[in-house]
Amino acid sequence: MRRISIAIDGPAGAGKSTIARIIADKLNIEYIDTGAMYRAVTLKFLRKGIDLDNDYDKISNILSYTDINFEKGKIYLDDEDVSEEIRLPEIGKYVSRVAAMPEVREKLVKLQREIALKKSVIMDGRDIGTNVLMNADVKIFLIASAEERARRRYTELHEKGIEVSFDEIYKEIENRDYIDSTRKINPLRKAEDAITIDSSNKTINEVVEDILLIIRNKCAGC
Ligand code: DC
Repeated sequence: MRRISIAIDGPAGAGKSTIARIIADKLNIEYIDTGAMYRAVTLKFLRKGIDLDNDYDKISNILSYTDINFEKGKIYLDDEDVSEEIRLPEIGKYVSRVAAMPEVREKLVKLQREIALKKSVIMDGRDIGTNVLMNADVKIFLIASAEERARRRYTELHEKGIEVSFDEIYKEIENRDYIDSTRKINPLRKAEDAITIDSSNKTINEVVEDILLIIRNKCAGC
């Protein structure tokens, strides 16, 4: 099989990472979670005590010595496994702002393209089909209603024993959607040649099967 690239974009909570991970396993290709990369940079800025509104000069400097790698499903920031830490609510609070910074996007998009040049990937994010991998073999735009996404997140947190109200989660999801889709550079939007899948009323397996079918049809000669 030649090197292939699959792009999955969509809002937070639509199921992108769960689904992309399963497909990566089934096809034996690399899963690249680009949201995790923005989270890792956010973690570094917070650790360095960066003031996101004022420290512009420091931001470029920090980025120049920031290294991000994926290995066996884990993400490494400057050789440290930060896979767990980047999921903390504190990171979720600031990541949209960091992801809207031009210097950050420039650095991470370059890295993402370099990874996809080296191996077959399924990459998920917000601007993969519209910007990072414009020539991806398959582009999926995965959506779900805000209510359904909030309900999934609420269940997930309650199962972990974390008490939060549904309204709080719903508001955070709406706020994140707003920032991600209205920012100036590479906002969240569907690529013209992407196929939309609404996961609101589907199981994970159903979505995986839908996407595998699309990949088989589109990549028949891959
Ligand atoms: O998918 P996630 O929730 O882990 O993404 C974290 C943040 O990064 C979210 O605010 C959207 C942003 N992001 C982005 O701007 N571009 C991407 N390719 C991936 C994520």
